[in-house]
Amino acid sequence: MAHTHPHAEEPTRRDFLYIATGAVGAVGVAATLWPFIDQMNPDASVQALASIEVDISSIEVGQGITVMWRGKPVFIRHRTEAEIAEARAVPVDSLPDPFARNDALPADAPATDENRAPREEWLVQVGVCTHLGCVPLGEQGDYDGWFCPCHGSHYDTAGRIRRGPAPRNLEIPVYEFVSDTLVRIG
Ligand code: FES
Repeated sequence: MAHTHPHAEEPTRRDFLYIATGAVGAVGVAATLWPFIDQMNPDASVQALASIEVDISSIEVGQGITVMWRGKPVFIRHRTEAEIAEARAVPVDSLPDPFARNDALPADAPATDENRAPREEWLVQVGVCTHLGCVPLGEQGDYDGWFCPCHGSHYDTAGRIRRGPAPRNLEIPVYEFVSDTLVRIG
């Protein structure tokens, strides 16, 4: 790796290695990470990684990042108190999709916020619209969560579909906190 390379200190080279070998460890600003990785067009060996570990220590409250996992974007959001309260105040029987869609839970687990975000300040979900697969935009839409501009699906602060053609809540992948600052997805 870079240790033996005579020009290892060259910033662009190092940055590239950081992203590529992080697989995809850490982060940066949400708005730039997804386009950057998209541009990098990670090859099949990167996309096929079974699990990734993400350092979440630099994600401030009210911020989110997007990482790539098995070729799909995953949103990791550090939710505000208001976002958590808003999500927890919604009666589950009023939701278009009553199921949690959390891969770590049974298929019929209800779509409570607790089932979507067991550690309430962190919401981890696959960033693929359940309608036809666009990537929704964060901090958008009528429910303060995500908005998919392709056909107008609004998701709430727990990633649950609230209005629009998407049939299901955003998928919650299997993940665990390795520590307070490290999440393993997959
Ligand atoms: S793909 Fe998201 S609303 Fe159609």
